[in-house]
Amino acid sequence: MKKIGVLTTGGDAPGMNAAIRAVVRTALSYNVEVIGIERGFRGLYEKNFLNLTSRNVSGIINKAGTFLKTMRFPEFKEDRVRKVCYKNLEIEGIEGLVVIGGDGSSKGAYCLSNDFNFPVVVIPASIDNDLFGTDCTVGFDTAVNTAVSAIDNIRDTATSHNRTFVIEVMGREKGNLAIEVAVACGAEIVLVPEIKIPYERVVQLLKEQAEKGKESSIIVLAEGVDSAANLTTFLQKALPDREIRYSVLGYIQRGGTPTYLTRVLATRFGVSAVELLMQGKYPYMVGIKGTEIISIPLKEVASQTKPISDAYLEIINRMAI
Ligand code: F6P
Repeated sequence: MKKIGVLTTGGDAPGMNAAIRAVVRTALSYNVEVIGIERGFRGLYEKNFLNLTSRNVSGIINKAGTFLKTMRFPEFKEDRVRKVCYKNLEIEGIEGLVVIGGDGSSKGAYCLSNDFNFPVVVIPASIDNDLFGTDCTVGFDTAVNTAVSAIDNIRDTATSHNRTFVIEVMGREKGNLAIEVAVACGAEIVLVPEIKIPYERVVQLLKEQAEKGKESSIIVLAEGVDSAANLTTFLQKALPDREIRYSVLGYIQRGGTPTYLTRVLATRFGVSAVELLMQGKYPYMVGIKGTEIISIPLKEVASQTKPISDAYLEIINRMAI
């Protein structure tokens, strides 16, 4: 293999640049040329290609976002579109592809590889940490830290005013981000899509906590459950004597200087992804189990969903007293 491509796709995540850097530097160490593909699969379709050298990736390990740009390209689901993309890879002489992205991206990458028996390796990068087969995705640690720091600030004003705050965090249809954030910021309640908790139960929990002397509370709400505005309206009606407010953390969770954990994970993933391509092992996703870097068949990743951590839910139930 003498030439590979790399692209970032889906929602951006801190650490994507670190992953690109590791892919480029590792490939060059194998004397393999690297073509950067701008704006994800759309760039593959439109042939937005640029040669990448070591210089292109210097000074970016500490920069969030992706210098290759990214976007959502739902048209990639169409066979016709993937055929054009494959043709463009052939014309450019690209013999393997590293796709850096999240859940949707891994599905698209699997289709491209499976349709044409084309070497593809995925680096899981998403603040949602919702990819099956890996303990952690690139960007997750940074997003958790960003959310926790924001909630620590909100905890100050909640305590001063004896208020209950509903904090809406990202995570798409999953609760992995919400639950990690909730444990780390000592939230009294966490609501995730995977576990249906009626709002009447939330009211009851708040009452029970108040009886135990809790004068303020933080409720972490995964966006896949509901909007913070809706939940706040419901709670304020049910608890008219309490002051209930909300904050939507939103897109601050997607930026911010990547933490060292994010940078190291992205770098390890980038090295392993290129090594898999060099060994002719595809279609795979690189991942981490504990501290060990592993590779998971992309077919498994694309067809399974990541379960919520029961252990964390247990912690929440025990700690929110
Ligand atoms: O997948 C990452 C993510 O940030 C989700 O948590 C969120 O729901 C979504 O992207 C937002 O998508 P967009 O950036 O297209 O608005």
